[in-house]
Amino acid sequence: MSEEKRVFPQSVTAHPGENVIIMVYKIKDVEGAEDKIKDFCGNFSAYMRSMLNRFPDSEFSSTIGFGAKAWDRFFSDLGTPKELEEFVPICGGKYTAVSTPGDLIFHIRAKQMGYCHEFATIIDMKLADVVEAIDETHGFRYMDGKAIIGFVDGTENPAVDLNPFDFAMVGDEDANFKGGSYLFVQKYIHDMSGWNKLPVEEQEKVIGRHKFNDVELTDEEKPANAHNKVTNIEDADGNELKITRANIPFANTSTGEYGTYFIGYARSFATTRRMLENMFIGDPVGNTDRLLDFSTAVTGTLFFAPSYDLLGQMGGE
Ligand code: HEM
Repeated sequence: MSEEKRVFPQSVTAHPGENVIIMVYKIKDVEGAEDKIKDFCGNFSAYMRSMLNRFPDSEFSSTIGFGAKAWDRFFSDLGTPKELEEFVPICGGKYTAVSTPGDLIFHIRAKQMGYCHEFATIIDMKLADVVEAIDETHGFRYMDGKAIIGFVDGTENPAVDLNPFDFAMVGDEDANFKGGSYLFVQKYIHDMSGWNKLPVEEQEKVIGRHKFNDVELTDEEKPANAHNKVTNIEDADGNELKITRANIPFANTSTGEYGTYFIGYARSFATTRRMLENMFIGDPVGNTDRLLDFSTAVTGTLFFAPSYDLLGQMGGE
């Protein structure tokens, strides 16, 4: 009897985490880059095991992902995940989802920032000569899991009654990349003074939920441009299409920078893209997400987070 091969995914469906470091790098065009990157892929599971062995109660996890250009440069001999390409910007009449560069991403989460930092130093130790930072953002869990704008974020993620893996991981439709995930990130900056001037009842209409207890507004109460209305999408048969979000707030009160780092893991990037099109272009056109009146996307990059099995192959196993 032939047994189906098991694949071991990265921790893409882990809890958003108490503390997060997100690092996006360019891989430099220098001698030795290819060897170091491949060596890092081959050893990634060992680095993870070591962290979990040293700090079993840390709730530590990290994912590694690659952008389309880096994939072509180093791993095209393994084929290419069907939907991995450089993010094509979405230009609506009013708002744009920009596309920004990124070869390599690390999404590190743990109970305490010290564990995230520990892993970041290991990455730095191994890759500093061959990478150049594009962005590093440190985020935190805010109160009861709120976005920095004061609303609980993540409630409608698949959980409890839906298998998160079904929505976050590639399946048999792209067999060589099974267990991988399309990781799309966007760094948003909020206009907090504008947002704070809105009465709470109006803010609730922007999000589509109550601020205090996270209860969803009724269909009658929810405007057509509420965030959870425009991002709620279905396939042709009426099945809800979901992704797994792990957004994280970040803030610097001195500089007045308040933001949301959007982190979405998907089985198919087409699902994430359709949500983005609904937000930035609108369906019907012009029905843009009201949240964008208070939020500006300053980055936008697509990565592929391979399974552990594939990472091993990428490392030459
Ligand atoms: C400014 C950045 C963003 C913020 C602050 C934000 C915040 C929120 C909040 C507070 C909710 C309601 C609670 C929940 O179900 O999670 C929500 C729902 C949701 N968001 Fe976002 N979000 C942002 C960007 C995005 C983006 C870029 C996407 C998709 C590409 C997205 C997809 C969704 C989805 C699918 C839901 C659930 C909709 C439903 O009820 O079915 N969000 N978001």
